[in-house]
Amino acid sequence: MRRKRKRIMKTGNVPVKSRSQIDGIRESGRINTAVLDYVQQNIRAGVSTAEIDRWVYDLTTDMGAVPAPLNYEGFPKSVCTSLNDVVCHGIPDEDEVLKEGDIINVDVSTVYKGYYSDASRMFCIGSVSADKKHLVQTAKEAVLVGLMEVKPWKPIGDMGHAIHIYAQSQGYSVVEEIGGHGVGLEFHEEPWVSYTAPKGSGEILVPGMVFTIEPMINMGTPDFYIDEENGWTVRTADGMPSAQWEVTVAVLERGYEILTH
Ligand code: MF3
Ligand code: CO
Repeated sequence: MRRKRKRIMKTGNVPVKSRSQIDGIRESGRINTAVLDYVQQNIRAGVSTAEIDRWVYDLTTDMGAVPAPLNYEGFPKSVCTSLNDVVCHGIPDEDEVLKEGDIINVDVSTVYKGYYSDASRMFCIGSVSADKKHLVQTAKEAVLVGLMEVKPWKPIGDMGHAIHIYAQSQGYSVVEEIGGHGVGLEFHEEPWVSYTAPKGSGEILVPGMVFTIEPMINMGTPDFYIDEENGWTVRTADGMPSAQWEVTVAVLERGYEILTH
């Protein structure tokens, strides 16, 4: 039997997904959301980040899907776990045990039937300082502020700019060199998504575009460095905490749809 070749529609370099492709990403996203829900219900002081990695691997594979990070460009685990001053790409570790007062980002990405979805949440372990709590809350609100700008025929920079202004209004900075991405048919696609871009800049949003909103919000300066030993872990230069929430969103004829959160 001969099958029709899979055609990918694009505007410029940005893939525009068909209805059935968005259905596929939504299904993948449902699994992704279920995994994050499980993490949310079970994360607590005393749990190691390696244990979180096992939850993600076991649950994802039980549902017939694959964790997208596993072996992605050499990433050794199934999930990113980014604690306190870690901005992103933290590697789960047996010796890293959560304790009261920690804040952590758990970033889950799923491949199901060839479709990719991507989301992350912050968790506060036990009672957390008011400063850290406010950072976590602001990072969450920043995603909502961005979502309000997701409408067809608007430049994507309007979304990034709104997030930047909001984070700054709360006294925080936004990481400039690491952003979001298109997602769905691959883990990372066009467009590159900035949360510090000027208003009016970047790609025009078109129905069928699917991308992540995932600003990294720092309590101190936006500067960071990458751990030389593992080549992955991104830490704030000043050692202050960083927070990030992430959703995968599809642009619709009217507004948007969140495909995983
Ligand atoms: N989930 C991350 C993102 O939001 C990607 C991590 S790449 C990995 O884009 F290899 F570290 F998993
Ligand atoms: Co992402």
